[in-house]
Amino acid sequence: MSISLIRPLIVAEGRHGIDRPVKVSVSAVDAWFGKKQVLRNVSLDLFDREVTAIIGPSGCGKSTLLKCLNRINETVPAFHMTGDVRLDGRSVFEPDLEINQLRRRFGWVAQQPNPFPWSIFENVAYGARLHGLVAGHHDTEAYVEACLRRANLWDEVKDILRSPGNSLSGGQQQRLCIARALSTEPEVLLMDEPCSALDPTATAHVEALIDELRARLAVVIVTHNMQQAARISQRTAFLHLGVLVEAGDTADVFIRPRSELCGRFVTGRFG
Ligand SMILES: Nc1ncnc2c1ncn2[C@@H]1O[C@H](COP(=O)(O)OP(=O)(O)OP(=O)(O)O)[C@@H](O)[C@H]1O
Ligand SMILES: [Mg+2]
Repeated sequence: MSISLIRPLIVAEGRHGIDRPVKVSVSAVDAWFGKKQVLRNVSLDLFDREVTAIIGPSGCGKSTLLKCLNRINETVPAFHMTGDVRLDGRSVFEPDLEINQLRRRFGWVAQQPNPFPWSIFENVAYGARLHGLVAGHHDTEAYVEACLRRANLWDEVKDILRSPGNSLSGGQQQRLCIARALSTEPEVLLMDEPCSALDPTATAHVEALIDELRARLAVVIVTHNMQQAARISQRTAFLHLGVLVEAGDTADVFIRPRSELCGRFVTGRFG
C-alpha cells in the first residue's frame, strides 16, 4: 500500500483542540536503524489529558515511535530520523533545549517492571532529588508518599518503605515503576506494553490507574491487547510496516475502521 493512499485515512476530529489541546505533535517522521527504514512519514497528534493507544503487529515501529518522542532512540548509534516532534508547540530538537530537562517531561514505563535495586522509598525519591523537586528529608518523605498514592500503591507499601523494590509482586513493582515515572513530574507518560508481564488482577489495577492519571497527563500506551486498547484509550493509532495507517477516536477505529487492514487487525484476523 502506498503512503499516499494511506494518509487520507487519518481522522481529524473537531472536539480535540477545544477542551484538549495537542500536547505532542509528530510531523512527517521518517526513521532508520542503519539502512533499514522503520517509520515512514508518520504524523500524529497526541492530546493532553487523554490516553492514546498505539497498536500494530510486532516490528511495525510502535516502540521506535514512542522513543522518538523523548529522543531516547538517539542513544542507539545506528539510529537517525527526519521530521519533527513538538512538545507544547516547541520542537524537541531545538538546539538550546536541555536533553535531560526534555526527558524529565516524559515519564517512561517499560514492559518488564524494572525497579532500581534499592528500597521502595529510594526508587521514588531518586528522580525527585535529581531534578531538585524536593529539599530536605521531611519534604522528600511527603513527596514520595504523594507519588505512591498517585500510583495507587501507598496503602500496600506504607509500612515497608525500606524494603527492596524488587521484593514486591510483579503488579506492585509495575505500580512502583509508575510512581517512579511520576516522581519527576512528567507531562506525558509513555508506556510500552506495561501490562504484558502482569496477571489479570495486576493488569486491572494498572488500567484503573492509567484512567486516573489521564486527568492530569497525556498518556501514550503501546499494547498488543486489543481489549485493553479499547477499554482504556480515547484515541487509537494503528501502525503497519512503519506507516500510520489510521488514527482517530478509539470507538471509530474499533467499530468503524476506515481501512480494511485496520479492521482485520483489531478483529484479530492478522498480526
Ligand atoms: N536498537 C535497534 N537496532 C536495530 N534495529 C532496531 C532496533 N530497535 C528496533 N529495531 C528494528 O526496528 C523495527 C521496529 O521495531 P520496534 O521495536 O519499534 O517494533 P514494535 O512495533 O515495538 O514491535 P514489538 O511489538 O515486537 O515490540 C524492527 O524491524 C526492529 O527490528
Ligand atoms: Mg515494541
